[in-house]
Amino acid sequence: MSIPFSKHNFTKKTYNDVQNILESGWLTHGKYTLAFEEEFKKFTNTKYAVTVSSCTAGLHLSCIVAGFKKGDEVIVPAMSHTATSHAVEYTGAKVKFIDTEPLTGNINVSLLNKLISKKTKGIIIVHMAGFPCNMREIVKICNKNKIKLIEDCAHAVGTVFDHKHVGNFGISGSFSFYPTKQIVTGEGGIVITNSKKVYKKIKMLKGFGIDKDITQRKKPGFYDVKELGFNYRMTDFQAALGIRQITNYKKNLARRKRLAKLYIEKLKINNKISFAPYNKECSYFVFQIFLTKRDKLLKKFSELKIGSSVHYRRPIPMMTYYKKKYGLKKNLFSDAIKYGKNNISLPIYPKLKEKEIEKICKVINQKI
Ligand SMILES: Cc1ncc(COP(=O)(O)O)c(C=O)c1O
Repeated sequence: MSIPFSKHNFTKKTYNDVQNILESGWLTHGKYTLAFEEEFKKFTNTKYAVTVSSCTAGLHLSCIVAGFKKGDEVIVPAMSHTATSHAVEYTGAKVKFIDTEPLTGNINVSLLNKLISKKTKGIIIVHMAGFPCNMREIVKICNKNKIKLIEDCAHAVGTVFDHKHVGNFGISGSFSFYPTKQIVTGEGGIVITNSKKVYKKIKMLKGFGIDKDITQRKKPGFYDVKELGFNYRMTDFQAALGIRQITNYKKNLARRKRLAKLYIEKLKINNKISFAPYNKECSYFVFQIFLTKRDKLLKKFSELKIGSSVHYRRPIPMMTYYKKKYGLKKNLFSDAIKYGKNNISLPIYPKLKEKEIEKICKVINQKI
């Protein structure tokens, strides 16, 4: 019996919605997109939400709105998906990488002050694997130094810090609906913000820089182009996939937390592996463990058809593009390097059965 790394959770009603949209002929920026934005706003308790074609697009637009440009420096985690740093690169600003906390993969906040210079205009933080960053400290440092905070919430639907949903701490938060994520629309993302100005600008930039969306045009073609925007829109059938997942997300989240506790219960006897202690504010995008014989275990999982992943293997500054551009100072990212060498992401999703977790843990405890 194989265990996939992720499994979608679409209901029959969702399939019906998608069919209705396809039959209606209205396939993009329609009422489902608006409804998805409404539901996402409610869930994250935020004022504005804009769907986008991906989290990367959302981060890119957020960086533009933050005003990052050539000559600026923006602090970015050394350990993340390269989308986080690419978003800064697109603007011409310079990336400054920050090292990682060993067990969560989040930025090591104690290093922040040393990295801030006169040129520092912003920071993008990532809530890795759903673990909230220390937002109290980060917000304090950003305010003190007048730097813009952008949250990469690609792993973090349902993650809170001090009861506040992540994405609400800075100028914006961008979420991903890539197929392995907690909410899935194929490709897709959403940006949340509490600023009307940020909302209006992101909404305009995602649709070519056109000043009126389709509902605001008095006559066909009646609009102006105010900025050099992009086509970063989400389709209506993608939005329809998202709506029922977000309205049912409380259940999804509760199940992820229950399964995380089960992993912890089964794995705590094994002193060859480590993992972050249970955190009720974490949304458990994946369940991450750390061990020195990581690749041996990955091989075993593959033989047994147990899905697993690595988030991520190589820190971003070690990727060729960044190495060439910025040079590599390995000593500055020693924790990110170690994290990259040792982490495995185990599956965790509502359809995963307890007995499947027991099987995964048995393999880990017997083979490692
Ligand atoms: C931390 C992080 N940020 C951004 C992204 C980019 O998301 P998307 O694929 O929706 O553009 C990912 C993708 O997995 C990610 O893991």
